[in-house]
Amino acid sequence: MSTEPLPDRDLNQGADDGSGDMATTGVRRILLVDDEEGIRESLSTYLETNGFQVDTAADAIAARRMIGESTYDLVLTDISMPEVSGLDLLAQIKDEHPSLEVIMITGYLDISFAIQAMRRGAYDFFTKPFNYEKILLTIERVEEKRRLEDQARRYESLRQQKQFEQQAILETTLGLARAGEERDRYNIGHGKRTAEFALMIADKLGYSDERKKNLRYASLLHDVGKIGIDDQILNKPGRLDEQEFAAIKRHSEIGEYILTPISFLSDIAEVVRHHHERWDGTGYPDGIAGEAIPIDARILCIADYFDSITSARPYRRPMETEKARALIREEAGKTFDPTLADVFLEGLGAALGQA
Ligand SMILES: [Fe+2]
Ligand SMILES: [Fe+2]
Repeated sequence: MSTEPLPDRDLNQGADDGSGDMATTGVRRILLVDDEEGIRESLSTYLETNGFQVDTAADAIAARRMIGESTYDLVLTDISMPEVSGLDLLAQIKDEHPSLEVIMITGYLDISFAIQAMRRGAYDFFTKPFNYEKILLTIERVEEKRRLEDQARRYESLRQQKQFEQQAILETTLGLARAGEERDRYNIGHGKRTAEFALMIADKLGYSDERKKNLRYASLLHDVGKIGIDDQILNKPGRLDEQEFAAIKRHSEIGEYILTPISFLSDIAEVVRHHHERWDGTGYPDGIAGEAIPIDARILCIADYFDSITSARPYRRPMETEKARALIREEAGKTFDPTLADVFLEGLGAALGQA
């Protein structure tokens, strides 16, 4: 047994401080494996004095059984033991419990074995007789390593969860948009094309990724309320009378009604409600004007209008791009926010190679 005086360690160190961090990353339970009873007694007493809970095993076979039966944060094992050596125990532990850290104990003469052990995944090694302070410092380094690994694991799991949520939101949005367009057969692809025009404006305005994402969803879903409009009216192959037009106009409010209860889409419900408002206040459903109309709804209004007039309808051919651009210019300050109309026309000109 060592007669060296044993330095103290704060008894609270290594114990769960209630913050939750130490509960998963602190080293509290140690398995000490050594065939020499004296070493087992001195080292376990020292570690227990310093706040650790220590179990001991006299050989690798017993150690392996104990690791299988209970949970340890750290294994300290002698290298030279009869029957199964510490190196073989290390290999078994790294095979079956790769995250369990192992520190080797060795005599000076076995230093080459210690180096081999490090190559096979041991965290560190101590030579006999022990420097007790070094043992505590090394255990602290193990704790720090476990804390960092735990942090990295939590970060990765959050990242994956977020990615999964974003994918679910996108798929739900596309599914809902498809449900809307299935009803309005003359308008297949209208949501996606509207999104492209709207994002062209957003890019020029320097929108953040988050704002662009919301605008994209609003564009894809702006006409989802058509789900609630009578088929006969929606797919009427001709001009609508006043009453039919009034029915169609309800789609922006129905769209808002559909989206509001879906928490991850409720932010865009207001934009969908106002996508037919006009800059001069003569639009619907609320007849609000100018900057009282949410900016995404003002963008959407231009993108929606441009795609609608340049797409074929049962009662008219698609308008030529030049004519459509002239119409947007003409409606700037009436139907459209004039600044956003300029941004759109500039972006469209650039896209058509007419910058
Ligand atoms: Fe609409
Ligand atoms: Fe539309």
